[in-house]
Amino acid sequence: MCTAVVRNIPTGCKTIDEILEGGIPKQKISLVYGEAETGKTTLAMQCGINCARQGYKTLFVDCDGAFSTQRLSQIASKDFKSVAEFIVLIKPNNFGEQAIVIDRLTDYVTQSFRLVVFDTLTSLYSVEIAEYPKRTFELNRELNRQMACLAQIAKTQKIAVLTTSQVRNVFSEAFVNIEPVATRVVKFWADIIIAMKPTENPQIIRAILEKSPRKGLPSTYNLRIEETGIHECLIH
Ligand SMILES: Nc1ncnc2c1ncn2[C@@H]1O[C@H](COP(=O)(O)OP(=O)(O)OP(=O)(O)O)[C@@H](O)[C@H]1O
Ligand SMILES: [Mg+2]
Repeated sequence: MCTAVVRNIPTGCKTIDEILEGGIPKQKISLVYGEAETGKTTLAMQCGINCARQGYKTLFVDCDGAFSTQRLSQIASKDFKSVAEFIVLIKPNNFGEQAIVIDRLTDYVTQSFRLVVFDTLTSLYSVEIAEYPKRTFELNRELNRQMACLAQIAKTQKIAVLTTSQVRNVFSEAFVNIEPVATRVVKFWADIIIAMKPTENPQIIRAILEKSPRKGLPSTYNLRIEETGIHECLIH
């Protein structure tokens, strides 16, 4: 009898993948958060590429309009052509469209999909809050609803959901207290949390595995961003 092996989706960062028993898990929400240029999108692309290498599709919800085919080609290298066919890109233009994507996710995500990426999950939310600060409570509630939907869909459709979030937004001091609320919402729903921190060397990122099913293991890793993507490295 053939038993289907349910494999996790490798991030491409060796020790993180070992600790996560192969990578980000299906039926759960993973969160990668950090400041700008810390490799969140690169890591998300790598998950999409590795998912394609397993023979499954990724729905990449590009909320930032930051998805670059050229970057995908650099990271996927010789596999680019085959990988590209397995990555379906969707670009919501505002928080309302993001809600529609989530509400219709079960229509898009058929059996050939194993991964849904939201990059950056909180950016359109932040734009909306900047425009309508009086609606903060309502928008937080909507973000919470979206996360609840994603958690439910991850379980029922047996897919991995990878979300990215920034720690700081571009708003003035008047709104500085808003972002942590979003962070609390996204952290609440995430089963795996990886924080990406910049270092003095712009190529080196410190990744902290803040939440994972395995406890008591080393949780800080140095990653290097280069042409081929973001990978673990040893620095002294
Ligand atoms: N071809 C390349 N070779 C080396 N480094 C690259 C290459 N392309 C991009 N980078 C680096 O990757 C970093 C940006 O990575 P990425 O877009 O994944 O960050 P991010 O955390 O998603 O940023 P943001 O918060 O702005 O969305 C930059 O520091 C950039 O210099
Ligand atoms: Mg990004």
